[in-house]
Amino acid sequence: MDLYEYQARDMFERHGVPVLAGEVATTPAEARAAAERIGGVTVVKAQVKVGGRGKAGGVKVAKTADEAEQHAGAILGMDIKGHTVQRVMVAQGADIAEEYYVSYLLDRSNRTYLAMASKEGGVDIETLAVERPEALARVAVDALEGVDAAKAAEIAAAAGFEGELAGKVADVLQTLWTVFVSEDATLVEVNPLVSTGAGDVIALDGKVTLDENAGFRHADHEALVDSSAEDPLERAAKEKGLNYVKLDGSVGIIGNGAGLVMSTLDVVAQAGEGHGGVKPANFLDIGGGASAEVMANGLEIIISDAQVRSVFVNVFGGITSCDAVANGIVSAFELLSSRGEAVTKPLVVRLDGNNAELGRQILTDAALPGVEQVDTMDGAADRAAELAAG
Ligand SMILES: Nc1ncnc2c1ncn2[C@@H]1O[C@H](COP(=O)(O)OP(=O)(O)OP(=O)(O)O)[C@@H](O)[C@H]1O
Ligand SMILES: [Mg+2]
Repeated sequence: MDLYEYQARDMFERHGVPVLAGEVATTPAEARAAAERIGGVTVVKAQVKVGGRGKAGGVKVAKTADEAEQHAGAILGMDIKGHTVQRVMVAQGADIAEEYYVSYLLDRSNRTYLAMASKEGGVDIETLAVERPEALARVAVDALEGVDAAKAAEIAAAAGFEGELAGKVADVLQTLWTVFVSEDATLVEVNPLVSTGAGDVIALDGKVTLDENAGFRHADHEALVDSSAEDPLERAAKEKGLNYVKLDGSVGIIGNGAGLVMSTLDVVAQAGEGHGGVKPANFLDIGGGASAEVMANGLEIIISDAQVRSVFVNVFGGITSCDAVANGIVSAFELLSSRGEAVTKPLVVRLDGNNAELGRQILTDAALPGVEQVDTMDGAADRAAELAAG
């Protein structure tokens, strides 16, 4: 889960990373009140989970509370790379002398953690990394040893910081490492980290990605979830405990097991080429159990997607046999019509594996409206794509 800058700022502050005052606002009036509380020069910053806000006009300096209100009025509602700005952060203005870059991340390819640091921050760091890689220090961090004072000094030195400044940057690096570890983050990035006219080193921007797999040991992380920015279908699926990802095609997909579902997406996309470019509408893994309730919940989500024109149920019976899945489909239809949500979109079902014969017989006997069976995965994908196109 990615955090908004204001959430990262608050997290930094709790751990002792030097930050400036900052308050989130959802209306221009709130922004004005925040600017009045903070006092002096402020910066109004769009809160969206995408980079390059400054270049898009989403970061504006305000000399007065009046100006902060005006800037908030202009920035709220702005579209930044497809993200609508729903809130801004009013931050205390910094007297910037220089801008740097520091980050920690999980380096999967080297199976370790990586610290990156540069004296040339503020700018587009991806460009710097490509055009002048020598200006961006990369130092591996051992997971067990972490970043102590000596390691922090090593990172700061690798980036070319010297003297007193190196010491201050190293202090921040050490504190940032405690944020990274104790919050179970996979990324902590500060761009820019700045030095001020008064000689302080302060984090002016923050990007944090939290590892959702560690969510169980962070009760407070739940409150950081922004459900308003989530896709409504994905949110509904999450509430029902389903593994669902919305895509933009028109063939709804239900399968058991992530691997099977992924290959189903490929097969449908390929078959779709023959039907005018029809594509899968979602990823949905109902897992091994595939009970009637799970099947009903899955179908409910998929048919409520207005883009879906046909549904492909692709099941390989393993521990859960095909007859259980077939019974699940039959009960799901009953359950849905009792909820007043009868399935009106065509369904193509392919059952294979354990007890496939029996499963197919159950579906044939049930004669559910709009349900067709096709024996092979390729054949079923083609039929589902054809139905979606027609
Ligand atoms: N509180 C502040 N006071 C003074 N200047 C600021 C402040 N916050 C940001 N700036 C200036 O604005 C620039 C851009 O800000 P910031 O890094 O937060 O956004 P961004 O880099 O455009 O967005 P992103 O990091 O999401 O790509 C900074 O490099 C800095 O020069
Ligand atoms: Mg930035």
